[in-house]
Amino acid sequence: MHLRDMVRIAILASGNGSNAQRLMDHFRSHPQARIVLVATDQPQAGVVQRAWDSGVPCYLFNGSQLRDGTVQYELLGQRVDLVVLAGFLRLIPAEMVRAFPDRIINIHPALLPKYGGKGMYGHHVHEAVIATKETESGITIHYVNERFDEGGHIAQFKCPVLPTDTRQTLAARIHGLEHAHYPEVIQRLIPQLVAGL
Ligand code: GRF
Repeated sequence: MHLRDMVRIAILASGNGSNAQRLMDHFRSHPQARIVLVATDQPQAGVVQRAWDSGVPCYLFNGSQLRDGTVQYELLGQRVDLVVLAGFLRLIPAEMVRAFPDRIINIHPALLPKYGGKGMYGHHVHEAVIATKETESGITIHYVNERFDEGGHIAQFKCPVLPTDTRQTLAARIHGLEHAHYPEVIQRLIPQLVAGL
């Protein structure tokens, strides 16, 4: 298959990048998709080293470049077909959402619509879940629109919340779910994206 017939995926991440790592590993030898770029607003983030170690080019940008369209044009210039957020904390501008219709995907560490929205990320989510004495939590993989965590759902996966859980133990269980499912759910979207190339 010619490289142009591949679905070209960019990952946007702001943190450690364990999900980004799983995605880079998963798609390294996929016949129809490649991770062509890791883009981050945090030059010190672990994801930068992970991209380097995986041989994936890294693009660094700041918040104003996201808002003024620079990032969107970089992605379009690199002929990116699918944008995958993996621990990316900034709001995606409406214009970029329009430029990639149903082509931007996020993973959230809770069962949306609960525990989503601005400020609900990382340990804040798990602390709120534990404080509410939920007996289950999970992950939501969803399309991105111009509001935090409100796009259409693609898939959800659940896990128990134990009475003894701390935010660390719950985070570890949620990360396990994310690593198991995010690459596979994205892979399921590839045939329809190939059809649209
Ligand atoms: C994940 O829990 C994801 O759900 C959330 O940010 C976290 C990123 O973790 N959006 P990592 O950087 O992939 O380890």
